[in-house]
Amino acid sequence: MAKRKKIAAGNWKMNMGYEEGRILARKVVDGVVRSDVTVILGVPFIHLKSMENILGGISNIHVAAQNCHQEEGGAYTGEISASHLTSVGTSYVILGHSERREYFGEGAALLAKKTDIVLKHGMKPIFCCGENLEIREKGTHVKLVSKQIKDALFHLSDEDFRKVVIAYEPIWAIGTGVTASAQQAQDMHKDIRALIAKKYGAETADLTSILYGGSVKPANAKELFAMPDVDGGLVGGASLKAGDFTQIVAAF
Ligand code: PGA
Repeated sequence: MAKRKKIAAGNWKMNMGYEEGRILARKVVDGVVRSDVTVILGVPFIHLKSMENILGGISNIHVAAQNCHQEEGGAYTGEISASHLTSVGTSYVILGHSERREYFGEGAALLAKKTDIVLKHGMKPIFCCGENLEIREKGTHVKLVSKQIKDALFHLSDEDFRKVVIAYEPIWAIGTGVTASAQQAQDMHKDIRALIAKKYGAETADLTSILYGGSVKPANAKELFAMPDVDGGLVGGASLKAGDFTQIVAAF
């Protein structure tokens, strides 16, 4: 039976100018020693084309965009389409990050459309979900995360669902320095996998990579990645430092 991928994905967010980004990507390429880990750099749009040259030819290092418009093209000033992304060699797209949900009002219906167009163009969505502190304290986090996944993804065919990477990112852990404990991550990932199994069956659930995100750093990556249902990380702050990020890649 095929095994699910181990993935270390960086999310540069709105950081790194053109030259800085090229230097960082080169350092990551030089520092990654594992060929059994899929490494993904989630970069601002301006970097996509040059990443094609820096990462091109290394089979386990890929580039991700951080967003994609839901329409094929046309009069949407300022937006980037799926075909724009594939024209510069993009293979993954981060969708539904909590910052996009919060600051740009992205909800399930829109994310379902974005997921569809990303898949239609042969790219793979990295679908983010996660609860805020209030929900965690109320104890309704599993219900909320399940709903986020169901509403945006469960219209997909089994074949398409298998192309999706899930990233569980509790909002209270993003950029705060507070990481979910390895057990908290494991508990949620296990519930997410059970939800997928119920809809798509055990084999699809078993093949789905579920990443944890929220203050992943070299000091906690090993413990998180050792959990049976934690298949890697979506890394913000620590992905901006080549040394930290490559240590995280080495932590599996
Ligand atoms: P962080 O961000 O690692 O800086 O907490 C994670 C993310 O937002 O993807």
